[in-house]
Amino acid sequence: MKTVVLGVSGGIAAYKAAALCSKLTQAGADVHVIMTENATEFVTPLSFMTLSRNPVVTGLFNIPEWRPEHVALADRADIAVIAPATANIIGKIANGIGDDALSTFMLTFYSKVFIAPAMNPRMYNNPAVQENIAKLKERGFQFIGPEAGHVACGAAGMGRMCEPDKIMEILLPHL
Ligand SMILES: Cc1cc2nc3c(=O)[nH]c(=O)nc-3n(C[C@H](O)[C@H](O)[C@H](O)COP(=O)(O)O)c2cc1C
Repeated sequence: MKTVVLGVSGGIAAYKAAALCSKLTQAGADVHVIMTENATEFVTPLSFMTLSRNPVVTGLFNIPEWRPEHVALADRADIAVIAPATANIIGKIANGIGDDALSTFMLTFYSKVFIAPAMNPRMYNNPAVQENIAKLKERGFQFIGPEAGHVACGAAGMGRMCEPDKIMEILLPHL
């Protein structure tokens, strides 16, 4: 059984991450969810705890054991997928910032990482965001999408998160 860390950051597409979590569990993966604090504004940790059947990490300091979760999970994880990935978390990962549970985990785990960005097209086209994405691609991070289409704020263009089924297609060979 493969251990998958599902990182959820604070975008409206966080609701789609619940379906992805369910699909990963159904595919036989041991799924551990790390949410940013902002992600909890969109979807509750309870949903992910129920769908993953594992505790959900939402903070760095409320740790259940002597070993911090960001290190313990990095030792166990086979792959990590961040969906949705905000412009903010992409920027933090690209620049080595660890100021919450998810970004700190990403400082310890960087070998098999899949990133599914989701954001407003203007954010996606921002040169700073594009530079951060290019940096991560160069380091071997695999990007899944985004796709063109309508995003939740009403705009149209590149920035829509890929559907969970499409993300699963790419993850399945690694499970
Ligand atoms: C209603 C709402 C929807 C948002 N959707 C997105 C989004 O889809 N993508 C994104 O990059 N930021 C989005 N943001 C902005 C992020 O929540 C904000 O940049 C936040 O700091 C991200 O934090 P995190 O990366 O730690 O989760 C949204 C904000 C609000 C209020």
